[in-house]
Amino acid sequence: MAHTASPQPVTINPAPALVGRIRVPGDKSISHRSLMLAALAVGESRVEGLLEGEDVLATAAAMRAMGADIARGADGIWRIHGVGVGGLLQPQAALDMGNSGTSTRLLIGLVASHPITATFVGDASLSARPMQRVIAPLSLMGADFTPSPGGRLPLMVRGLAPAVPITYTLPVASAQVKSAVLLAGLNTPGITRVIEPVATRDHSERMLAGFGAVLSVEQTPEGRLISITGEAELKPQSIVVPGDPSSAAFWLVAASIVPGSDVVVENVGMNPTRNGIVNALRLMGADITEIDARDVGGEPVADLRVRHAALKGIEVPRELAPSMIDEYPALFVAAAFAEGRTVARGADELRVKESDRIAVMKDALIANGVSLIEHEDGLSIDGTGGEAIPGGARIASKLDHRIAMSMAIAGLHARAPVMIDDAAPVRTSFPTFFALLDALGGSVTWS
Ligand code: S3P
Repeated sequence: MAHTASPQPVTINPAPALVGRIRVPGDKSISHRSLMLAALAVGESRVEGLLEGEDVLATAAAMRAMGADIARGADGIWRIHGVGVGGLLQPQAALDMGNSGTSTRLLIGLVASHPITATFVGDASLSARPMQRVIAPLSLMGADFTPSPGGRLPLMVRGLAPAVPITYTLPVASAQVKSAVLLAGLNTPGITRVIEPVATRDHSERMLAGFGAVLSVEQTPEGRLISITGEAELKPQSIVVPGDPSSAAFWLVAASIVPGSDVVVENVGMNPTRNGIVNALRLMGADITEIDARDVGGEPVADLRVRHAALKGIEVPRELAPSMIDEYPALFVAAAFAEGRTVARGADELRVKESDRIAVMKDALIANGVSLIEHEDGLSIDGTGGEAIPGGARIASKLDHRIAMSMAIAGLHARAPVMIDDAAPVRTSFPTFFALLDALGGSVTWS
């Protein structure tokens, strides 16, 4: 499951203009939730456009190990027969989450209110990530945890049924923690409440309601209050997963920085809790137009046309952070080509993603000739004003897909090729990334 196989070094060749129409794979957050909720519904759900990346396949394997019947048809549609809320079975072996923090934290939430015990394991990156943020609220609900030192994986959780409903105020802006508590609340008698002082991606709320859970959202002086009534009965659904805005982001940046580029990315999810990168790039002067804005399966979607533009440095509004938290590595690359300084702060959560994305991007950009200053909560980057960066260095992707893809984009407009020590992690979220790069006119050398 995890990309523990051999590393895949790749060299990114400087590219001519990127031109074409592409479609990015399905949204990762929505794909995970589709499988989890369908696995808890009674009857057959169908999912079209599921992201078939390693992270989502880890979720599928785990839900199968806990009793769901999940199969991909030759038509590319996934069919899921669920076990019903409360019906998860004891897995017979440790659940291998590979590189996926979302699978891990959300599934820990599901197990927490079922009468089963599960052990979660993952790769070196995932095993270094903090789990205390879900252990704390789920312990209050009655689950019992045996984590590794520092609240990390491997971790065993013994669920409690019936669990105890809680009202929990999120200490960090995290959709994963919010979702873990809401998913635990599905099989918990009474009302489980989460208050988020800062709004994060709302796919769990939308999809839980879509599957028939009794869920309400209100604005209170303390923040967004989400209430879910257990023990829920979920009804099977047909889901169409929109394209992942986090994957689209790489092409928005790539076309913005490579002179002469003109790219349309079709079918991009435009949920306002996710599209902060479009706003940030527009503030920098990016030329992005939305074509055919529409609704697909309850999520706003549009085709995005992006053309090369002269970017300028900005102070990235801190309030955008939750809606573009996964896009900072790509934004740092855009900043490296802007005129003047870009200050991106207020994003301390980047320190605990698949890698420490502040430190790893700092090293990768500096090695390739970019000037910047590191802050505890972000980077200040002095851009080239549109010129190619020097490039020429080999960077370490540190088992982090978004580092590999961001530096691949940086290499498209460099004086010397940028080398990436391991591009295998790209398969976790965006298996077609290099094929799309090729389709747009870029080229890479595998070694
Ligand atoms: C996700 C939430 C975010 C994000 C991750 C996906 C989700 O994590 O970084 O890629 O699907 O809920 P946090 O909740 O840790 O911010």
